[in-house]
Amino acid sequence: EVQTAILTTLDASGTIDDSRKLTVGTTSLGSPEGQAVVKAALDSLLSKEMVEYTQITNNLWVLTKEGNEIADTGSHEYRVWAALPEAGQPGLSVKDLTAALGADTVKVGQGRAFKSKWIAKDATGGFVKAATEPVDATAGALREIKSTGLTSGGEAELKELQKRKLVQTRKLIHYSIKKGPQFATEVKTLETDLTVEMLASGSWENAEFKQYNFAAKGEPTDGGALHPLLKVREEFRQIFFDMGFTEMPANRFVETAFWNFDAMFVPQQHPARELQDTFYLKSPASAPEPPADYYERVRKTHEVGGYGSIGYRAPFSREESGKLLLRTHTTAVSTAMLYELANQPGGFKPAKLFSIDRVFRNEATDATHLAEFHQVEGVVADYDITLGHLIGFMEEFFGRMGNKTLRFKPAYNPYTEPSMEIFSWHEGLGKWIEIGNSGVFRPEMLEPMGLPKGVRVLGWGFSLERPTMIKYKIQDIRTLVGHKTDLGAVKTRPAVRFEKDD
Ligand code: PHE
Repeated sequence: EVQTAILTTLDASGTIDDSRKLTVGTTSLGSPEGQAVVKAALDSLLSKEMVEYTQITNNLWVLTKEGNEIADTGSHEYRVWAALPEAGQPGLSVKDLTAALGADTVKVGQGRAFKSKWIAKDATGGFVKAATEPVDATAGALREIKSTGLTSGGEAELKELQKRKLVQTRKLIHYSIKKGPQFATEVKTLETDLTVEMLASGSWENAEFKQYNFAAKGEPTDGGALHPLLKVREEFRQIFFDMGFTEMPANRFVETAFWNFDAMFVPQQHPARELQDTFYLKSPASAPEPPADYYERVRKTHEVGGYGSIGYRAPFSREESGKLLLRTHTTAVSTAMLYELANQPGGFKPAKLFSIDRVFRNEATDATHLAEFHQVEGVVADYDITLGHLIGFMEEFFGRMGNKTLRFKPAYNPYTEPSMEIFSWHEGLGKWIEIGNSGVFRPEMLEPMGLPKGVRVLGWGFSLERPTMIKYKIQDIRTLVGHKTDLGAVKTRPAVRFEKDD
């Protein structure tokens, strides 16, 4: 209907200079809502090139709620004046006025009325009228604006009223319309596609087709996106590669207790191995056996010692070794790699290895803990290296992430001696937080593998989640991993750049 009204009016008078004058039947389209309907109709006609239009914006002054009240009942100062007795009569106190007019009106009105000498104080301190019939200019201006949208007081007065929050501007939009190149009084539906039916019936010959809009923006293409953890992982990988490390194949989540614990000289009675800390698998029931001679050396080291150690002197069970579990650390992978290094053709060669992958622990979940997380793991195996090299590595590695303040604290791991926890100063939290665990692997772990005596192996593990949460300001780890993950955020989170020295 609106489209027809536009087209017939254009047909009759050539142009429409003010779309607010349009009517449909007897309904005027002058209101802001009417103009929104006109715009929708115009855009549709514009897409068919039947009309062209320009938008005209006017600012109109309207009264606020308080402005309306003043226009109706007078300004605060006028109301104060009106409520007071004539001079000579007993005056009213502020308390009396407040009871009659309300605190707001008295607060603003009393001062203004006094300043304009509309009211005065009598001998007892009460207020009485001082002027006979004051001109309430504020209410007058507001009434004028209310009926005409303008005031004879001009711009300065409007600004003043706006400052007092009595008036505000409203944008009013209307359109000026003229005929377009495809103008017609009737809207044709244009075909958007050439169909088999049109070809078969021959109707294509008389059909009119909609123009292609080559400038249209396409739908945003939907592609995959790296998870924030993978973005941070990628930065870590680059730092490792830059420092000459090789990546270990860590894509196997299930290990035997042998590789996850025994081979690392973790006693079979260690509490970390219990059900409440480690996830064990029911099936499959068994895994490939480790090399028999190696298994035997590991068993002996646990039970009776060797390589300068007295061992744990506790029973060692093959059944315990064969249990399948979800690896509790990626150090299980490092261990298998170290065994490979010791037994590769040509013998041991120094190596720097890393992996960043998932580990599992039977833990209650909360805002900062999940039963699965990622470890950033590394080992450096070489002749005659020391704890000093490990500290040097940490400073270099974290320095490349822009993290220059580290502290080291002695710790305990069954498989390293000495062991160190690594702490970093967290600017946001204003305290030292633990970022990783590390150490020099024990001979009880390395020598049964067949590594030469002079070889020292440094190792460490950090979490990937912690730097990711800091980097992306994520408070709850459960919004990063798991069913509460915000997929929209996964797509839009930027790539990571650690601040490096230039
Ligand atoms: N496996 C340790 C952990 O899970 C990390 C570590 C790796 C410590 C290697 C020392 C040596 O916390």
